[in-house]
Order: sequence, then C-alpha cells, then structure tokens
Amino acid sequence: MYTIVITGASSGIGLETARVLTQKGFNVLGVARNEANCNRAKDMILSENPNAKISFFVADLMQQREVIRVAEEITSYLDQKCSGKLFALINNAGCVRSWYMTTEEGYEQQFALNHLAGFLLTYKLLPALEKARGRIIMTGSESHKGIKVNWDDVMLSHRYNPLTAYKQSKLCNILFAKGLNDRYASAGIRAYVVDPGLVNTDIGNKETGGLVNLIWMLRKRHGVSPTIPAKTYGYLCEQETAPDGLYYYLCKEKIYSKQVTSKNANRLFELSERLCGIYFGKVEMK
Ligand SMILES: NC(=O)c1ccc[n+]([C@@H]2O[C@H](COP(=O)([O-])OP(=O)(O)OC[C@H]3O[C@@H](n4cnc5c(N)ncnc54)[C@H](OP(=O)(O)O)[C@@H]3O)[C@@H](O)[C@H]2O)c1
Repeated sequence: MYTIVITGASSGIGLETARVLTQKGFNVLGVARNEANCNRAKDMILSENPNAKISFFVADLMQQREVIRVAEEITSYLDQKCSGKLFALINNAGCVRSWYMTTEEGYEQQFALNHLAGFLLTYKLLPALEKARGRIIMTGSESHKGIKVNWDDVMLSHRYNPLTAYKQSKLCNILFAKGLNDRYASAGIRAYVVDPGLVNTDIGNKETGGLVNLIWMLRKRHGVSPTIPAKTYGYLCEQETAPDGLYYYLCKEKIYSKQVTSKNANRLFELSERLCGIYFGKVEMK
C-alpha cells in the first residue's frame, strides 16, 4: 500500500489532490487545522468513492509544536499500518495575510506556514520517506520569480508587504526542494515543486482583509478549477521511476528563477534549521 501525506487537504488544491490520489488507489493521510473542515472533506471523498483510503489528522501547522505532534502521530500510524514507509509527502498547506501577523512562537505567519511548517514536517517524516525512497512535493507558485530572499530580515518585520512575504515564501519552497535534492537524490529521495497556476480557491479570503481580500475576490474568478493542478500531483506520484525535474506545471517541467541555486538553498537550510531547532546535515558544494 502506497501512502501519501497531504497538508492542507481540507479545501482547495489539497482537497482535490487528495480526491484524485484516492481514486488512483493511494492511501491518503490529510492534515489540516480545522476538524469540521477535515470531516467534511473526508465525507465528500467517501461519498463519491466509499472504498477510498482516506484519514485526516488535525493540526495547526503554523505552530511548530503542532507540526512535531502531528508528525509523531503520523509516524506511529505508518509504523503500525504501512511498515513505517511513506511514499510521498505533499507540503501544500498555505495562507495569505494582509498584515504582519505572527504565530504563537513569534514567526511571521506566511513564512511560518508556507515554508517552515513543510521544512520541519519533512525533517520529522524523513526516516519514513527514506524507507520508501519517497517523493516530497511542495505547492509552489510562479510568483516565486522576480524576488530574492531577504536574508537580513526574512520575516520582513521592518517593512512588511504581504505580497512580498508571499512571493518570498514560494521562493523558499523551491529552494527547499533544490536543497533536498542536493542532499537526498543519491539516497533515492526526490523533491519537486508544483506550480498550480491561478486556481479558484478561497486562499486570499481567509483571515485577510482590506485590499488583499478585495483583489483575491476579483482575481480568483479567472482561476482554473483545482482539478487542473491535481493532475500534476497525480502525474508526479504515479510515475514508477521518479522524474528528474524540479519545477512542474501541467505535468511538464518549467523554467524556474535564477535565484534557485545550491548556494541559496544551503543558506535557507541553515537559517530554517536555526529557526526550527533541527539539523538536516551539510551538503558538499560542487
Ligand atoms: N489558489 C491559487 O491560485 C494558488 C496559486 C499558487 C499557489 N497556491 C498554493 O496552493 C496551496 C494551497 O492553497 P489553496 O489555493 O488550495 O488554498 P485553500 O483552499 O485556502 O487551501 C489551504 C489549505 O491549507 C489549510 N490550512 C490553512 N492554514 C492552516 C494551518 N495553520 N494549519 C494547517 N492547515 C492549514 C486550509 O485549511 P481550511 O480548509 O481549514 O482553510 C486548507 O486545507 C498554498 O500553498 C498556496 O500558496 C495557490
């Protein structure tokens, strides 16, 4: 049985991806913050496919202690039911904010959820991924282009701009995937980033206000259905031999920002390791 963890599986792109992957016969473990939304998502998937293998774990992934707790729950599930193996981890949960807001641990919320949560969850689930020579997929965005990481103030606490914070978090997704491939491709683990395109979801209307809320109300109408990006996750999980690329859109490789270098990936690893209190280990620079 091939098991896949998807964060943010209670709505939008994550929910549709969970639906598609259960249809393909994968055992899907969804993670999201709200129990009622998780139950609704599970009921929706089961009402269409009563044989779907779908379970949900509730966790507010913005808080690192919650990431650690849910990783432990998932690991014990995998140990009991899946020989300790995880075939794929899809780090998809994400948010948009209108203002500078911090988590209980003091981290800017877009950076905390869109990047650090996936960074820490991947670290915690790495032993299970290693056993399956697994795949790690980040939901990135074309908006990772045209920006650099602000290394001196990564939370943008001095001059906060919500769009800059979002774009930077998406650049971090692809730098993280690059750094994972640098470290673990030789062990059979591969990391990818999916660009979903513009998708009609409510992401910009959750805990936002003012201009961000208004702009997203108008913009999302031009977005495609989540069924479109879900195909790319299906493609990356279904290939028997892990594909070689890094950045995918509509099941095909796509060009990414020149900022995506091993040097920047290493720098992000060091910074994120410090912020999460973990250590992945060094990679030799070529
Ligand atoms: N929509 C687009 O056009 C677009 C484009 C490029 C990239 N993306 C990326 O796609 C990903 C998914 O976004 P989406 O558009 O599908 O938005 P969405 O419908 O709002 O889905 C976000 C998911 O994350 C969950 N979530 C939010 N905060 C969380 C937290 N603190 N802890 C755990 N789970 C949390 C949400 O739970 P609830 O159901 O409880 O809200 C939901 O399941 C994000 O990474 C986003 O950056 C989206």
